[in-house]
Amino acid sequence: MFSFHRPLVAFLVVLFAGAASADDGMHYGYGKAATVEQISGWDIDVRPDGTGLPPGEGSVEDGEYLYEDKCAECHGSFGEGNNQFPALAGGEGTLTDKRPHRTVGSYWPHTSTLWDYIHRAMPYTQPESLSDNEVYAITAYVLFLNDLVADDFILSQENLVSVELPNKPNFVADSRPDTFNARCMKDCKEPGSIQVVTSIERQPAEAVVAKAAAQPVPAGEKIYRQACGLCHDNGITGAPKPHDQRDWRGRVDQGMDVLVRHAIEGFQGENGIMLPKGGFSHLSDEEVAAAVNYMVGESP
Ligand code: HEC
Ligand code: HEC
Repeated sequence: MFSFHRPLVAFLVVLFAGAASADDGMHYGYGKAATVEQISGWDIDVRPDGTGLPPGEGSVEDGEYLYEDKCAECHGSFGEGNNQFPALAGGEGTLTDKRPHRTVGSYWPHTSTLWDYIHRAMPYTQPESLSDNEVYAITAYVLFLNDLVADDFILSQENLVSVELPNKPNFVADSRPDTFNARCMKDCKEPGSIQVVTSIERQPAEAVVAKAAAQPVPAGEKIYRQACGLCHDNGITGAPKPHDQRDWRGRVDQGMDVLVRHAIEGFQGENGIMLPKGGFSHLSDEEVAAAVNYMVGESP
């Protein structure tokens, strides 16, 4: 029965091979299609749900030796960080301080990132030199240095995702749209008339405030909703709420131009960090000023 079909199978193989070679880089007339093996050499990312982790395991105990040998010189025997090299442990509870100490234990959201980063980039001078089991062992040891696993712990492909980092809940999905402007299909602006203003050519805050004062309040409210409300609506990490008089007392006394400058250039206050323009660098200075007007105007 089987031998009867053989010529047909052979024919299909030839057909498929023919189809594949038509796309085999011939599209541009040079190069060849990457093989599965070649792609797998690049496809090394590990995701928070563990996708991409290779089979393997490593103990805290083995990790200690490997870490001392390959990592401690730069990152310190206890993960405290030598010289300019980053600390890998410590810093719990400092994220809202003036000088937050961000480490794997105090700041990072996912254990998978630690595995991926060490596997991909460390040791600094010999990236991708560690075996998978070595990466498991060293990752386990860095978790141990952060008091997240016990000294007899064995980290593996199966249990890595179950080790949760303490700061994970503080990472929230940003649901804001990443584009605001409707696409223009007709009667569009003359491209030559569009002025790109860089931070170097920044206008003085006073001039911006004056221009913004002329903007109608609804414009400021719209910008506020798109770019500022995420933090300011609920006072995330101490961002002053638009309707909250107490939040704005003291701030308003600095003068509008100072408030606007802080919103444009960014500002580190007692409560936290206000990113330049809330992270929305595409907003013009006037738009930010209009949003500040709206926020302060709402707080009598
Ligand atoms: C020669 C010095 C050196 C050695 C050795 C070294 N690293 Fe690093 N490591 C660095 C530098 C520099 C950075 C920062 C890289 C950057 O930000 O681009 C870094 C960053 C890291 C980070 C990210 C820290 C953060 O919070 O951003 C981790 C995790 C890490 N290294 C782990 C390791 C491990 C594990 C080893 C041993 C297998 C190791 N490193 C060996 C220099 C080193
Ligand atoms: C990612 C969160 C975040 C976003 C987005 C954000 N802010 Fe803020 N903002 C803060 C925090 C936190 C503070 C308080 C800092 C402090 O006082 O410690 C703050 C403070 C301010 C202040 C007071 C500055 C001062 O001198 O007291 C103004 C004004 C302000 N933001 C305007 C804006 C405007 C306008 C936008 C939108 C374009 C915006 N913010 C978007 C987090 C944010």
